[in-house]
Amino acid sequence: MPLKPPPDQDIVVVGATGDLAHRKLLPALYNLGVRDLLPAQGKIIGAAPFGWSDDKFRDFARDAVTKFSRTGIDNARFGQFAQRLRFAPLMQGDDLSPLQPHLTQHNRIVYLAVPPSAFEPLITGIGAAGLADTTRIIIEKPFGHDLASARDLNALLHRVVPEDRIYRIDHYMGKETVQNLIVLRFGNAVFARLWNRDAIERVEITVAEELSVDGRGPLYEQIGALRDIVQNHMFQLLALTTMEPPNSFDAEALRNEKVKVLNSIIPIDPRHVVRGQYATGEVNGERVDGYREEPGVSPGSNTETFVALRLELESWRFSGVPFFLRTGKRLPDRDTRIVIVFRDVALHLFRHAGVRHLDSNRLVVRIQPDEGITLRFVAKRPGPDIDVEPVDMDFSYDTSFRVSPPEAYERLLHDAMVGDHTLFIREDEVEAGWAAVAPVLAAPPPVHLYAAGTWGPSEADAIPRPWHWHNPEPEPEQPS
Ligand code: BG6
Repeated sequence: MPLKPPPDQDIVVVGATGDLAHRKLLPALYNLGVRDLLPAQGKIIGAAPFGWSDDKFRDFARDAVTKFSRTGIDNARFGQFAQRLRFAPLMQGDDLSPLQPHLTQHNRIVYLAVPPSAFEPLITGIGAAGLADTTRIIIEKPFGHDLASARDLNALLHRVVPEDRIYRIDHYMGKETVQNLIVLRFGNAVFARLWNRDAIERVEITVAEELSVDGRGPLYEQIGALRDIVQNHMFQLLALTTMEPPNSFDAEALRNEKVKVLNSIIPIDPRHVVRGQYATGEVNGERVDGYREEPGVSPGSNTETFVALRLELESWRFSGVPFFLRTGKRLPDRDTRIVIVFRDVALHLFRHAGVRHLDSNRLVVRIQPDEGITLRFVAKRPGPDIDVEPVDMDFSYDTSFRVSPPEAYERLLHDAMVGDHTLFIREDEVEAGWAAVAPVLAAPPPVHLYAAGTWGPSEADAIPRPWHWHNPEPEPEQPS
């Protein structure tokens, strides 16, 4: 079904002068405008503790769209978009009354695009400014910094607005390739029947980034990779990879199944976790600084920029199957993938023909970049002997659909405006995620340094033993 414009409402972005608004939210809102998917009536009100004018905010938005819009900028379209933009200077911390004169609609969505330390005063501020009645709140991750603080934040939110007006965002849920996990698993008999502990030997999930902390040093110092990526993005990937089929695409049906998975994670044993931090190294042929040299990072910091861990689920479908999760910054590639490794066949038939080893069948779901899916199996190499070689069957979004999927934030902003919770995180989901990592937060293992541009500290190689990590194959050299 084609998407429809949402009902009339104002869109308030608190933290509108920050990095998230600049890189993601303003370009996403602009592109929703290009697709005629903004409300017919309503303003986009930026708010932040700066004395900016509307025009200064419009210039900021133009810069954001020019640099980060996936469709570039169209001046006429931007002109229409800019007419919606207003700026409300919040010069007194959590006092949100400066929003009042800009509000034009009965309904509104307030996006809290601010560091976690600002959530609490702003949520209280929404209530104090008398805005709670018709406000829906979108709240960014990380949602709390452990189980207790997540519970407190949930309780505070519920004092101001009910759960059905809260949208906890995890932008991975907005990615097409992540949503496609549901279709891949439940829309294809061949996979649906094999998706269990009888056929699957192990699963590996990697979220690798080439980027550094990219100017977010002070914030990252309080978070680290476990809270930034594992507890949310990776657990969402894990949940969609392992959940039971929901009865429908209804928001609660899907979220119920995800919560069951997160509740089934056996609390992670810190002995099965390796933490790492990037040191000086080389990325794309250029020398880059280590994490401790990044602005705003303590020279003695023990914050992890890399985590590798093993976990297991206590579930009928997956009990006993190890899951290996790995994420890091300043790795050799940007690459998010899920590798499903199937159990091997009996080898004896081939052994008689002199074949000593058969590569395991595996399904590689490439979440990004180069979005697609590869099935690796073995084939007989043409010739008189039984010679077996791994080959690939490949699906790529680019060649099959010839479209670049919309940005995750476009989808999520639109869903929140129409009141669809399906892709947002429910309170019990967040809490189950924190419970799973609680033992690691309580007794974090030591941090090992790794050179930027490598696949993390060598200690991480022990995590998937007796196997090894599947790193993406390097791009073939182009003939000169
Ligand atoms: C954010 C993290 O949630 O996700 C960042 O805070 C990370 O540290 C980013 O860089 C990665 O998002 P994506 O969509 O590029 O994989």
